Amino acid sequence: MIGRLNHVAIAVPDLEAATVTYRDTLGAKVSQRQEEPDHGVTVVFIELPNTKIELLEPLGEGSPIQAFLDRSPAGGIHHVCYEVDDILAARDRLKEQGARVLGDGEPKIGAHGKPVLFLHPKDFNGTLVELEQA
Ligand code: CO
Repeated sequence: MIGRLNHVAIAVPDLEAATVTYRDTLGAKVSQRQEEPDHGVTVVFIELPNTKIELLEPLGEGSPIQAFLDRSPAGGIHHVCYEVDDILAARDRLKEQGARVLGDGEPKIGAHGKPVLFLHPKDFNGTLVELEQA
């Protein structure tokens, strides 16, 4: 059911510093900052030949990544995102199999303008999983 790895997201305490690391130390192409108030993050995208990396910094009160950074102040891998052809069919199949879909279970529009859902990390080996409709 899952397809390509769309991106790996890394939560960072300082997006500017992380941008410098990826752009200057690692020599990667880093996008402009993009604020995503609906998701409580500011994000930059790093385009790699085979996938993307997203660097996430908390935006506003109650950002969903703040608790993660409180536990891991230096930052760390926050989630992985897999592509699916049909997000509603994928959701229904996962729920049938007992997986927990976060939030109200309805897809939201993600950072790439496509519908996304998140799956509970306890059902996926301790890793928060995002599904994005390809
Ligand atoms: Co993501």
